[in-house]
Parts: sequence; C-alpha cells; structure tokens
Amino acid sequence: MALHIIDHPLVQHKISLLRDKNTGTKEFRELVSEVAMFICYEATRDLPLKEIELETPIAVAKTKVISGKKLAIVPILRAGLGMVDGVTSLVPAAKIGHIGIFRDPGTNDAVQYYSKMPEDIDEREVIIVDPMLATGNSATAAITEIKKLGVKNIKFMCIISSPEGVEALQKAHPDVEIYTGVIDSGLNEDKYIVPGVGDAGDRIFGTK
Ligand code: URA
Repeated sequence: MALHIIDHPLVQHKISLLRDKNTGTKEFRELVSEVAMFICYEATRDLPLKEIELETPIAVAKTKVISGKKLAIVPILRAGLGMVDGVTSLVPAAKIGHIGIFRDPGTNDAVQYYSKMPEDIDEREVIIVDPMLATGNSATAAITEIKKLGVKNIKFMCIISSPEGVEALQKAHPDVEIYTGVIDSGLNEDKYIVPGVGDAGDRIFGTK
C-alpha cells in the first residue's frame, strides 16, 4: 500500500527545527503539533464529499461537505499524544482512542499495556499517530489490536521514519497507508532513528 512522504517545504523546515538539539520543550511541542496538522491535511485528502445545497447571502449554492465514515485518532502513548492537537485542529469532531505500547528493552518486542477506544471504533476510519516510526514494532502491534476491534480502514501517520520501520510495517500490514514527513538513514544499536530527533516523548514532555 502507498507510502506518502509529505515533502512540503514548511514540513521539511519544521522537521529541521525539530532535529536541532537546542530546540526546547515548548517549541518542540508546538512544532510536533504543527507538522502533525500538515501531515493530517494530506492524510485526509481522500475523504469522500457529498453535495449539499445552502443559501449564501447572495444565492443558493450547491456546495460540498465531508460525508462517509467518521474519524477516530489513536495516538500511541506517549509520544503520539503530541500529535493529537494538530490533527484535531483540522478534524475537531474526531473521537480519540489511546493505546499504550512499550518496547521490551531485552527483546525489543512491543508490549501493550493500555487500550481505550471509542465504543463505535469499528464504524470509523482510524488514523494512528506516533511521531517516530523506528523498528515498526509498536505501529504493527497497534494496528493489529485495532484491526481486532473490526476496523477496516486504517492509516498510520508519523513525522520521521526509518527504512526498517517502513519495510516492517508494510510487510505486516500492506493495506495500511503510511504518511511520513521524511525517511531517515536508519536505526542505531539502541533502535533510535539516525539522525532523527532523539527521544520524541522526552522532548515533547520535557522529561530529560
Ligand atoms: N522513538 C523515539 O522517540 N525516537 C527514536 O529515534 C526512535 C523511537
């Protein structure tokens, strides 16, 4: 399934600011939210429209509004939370589920510790958000869990990905479209993206 790289100059510029180790927590958090908004703009490009009729102050207009399934946003805790504001600024009616997954430091396996989804999640299109697609293990596990709940249409949105993560995710879930701002060179021995931004969660929440 398709891989979308959002190479808009504003996205690329803001990603460069994110990379800078001197960018502080407040600015980093704002940038994550802004980049998420731009990527969401592309990820929602295929939302179906229907024609309606309404009156402008001048005339009756045939005009378009979004139709079809409603959206749910699912951030992967905790760094994914940083992208929620940006996405909901474009789709304010979206419901929000949460999934908590951590990486077992010994095996690098994804371990789910939390899941709370909107009751009608199976009737929604779901966009999963996590700023970093590193090994792909968390994204793969999150998508597996959400598919189990009956969701058919899932997109995955991140800001920076590794080639390894993209490959793993495409292999595990070929039906899921991936939206990313950039693909970096690879992973280091600690499974951080190189050059990346460091630990996105720590930088969003100021925990280091
Ligand atoms: N998670 C992060 O926050 N950063 C990485 O580089 C990889 C995973």
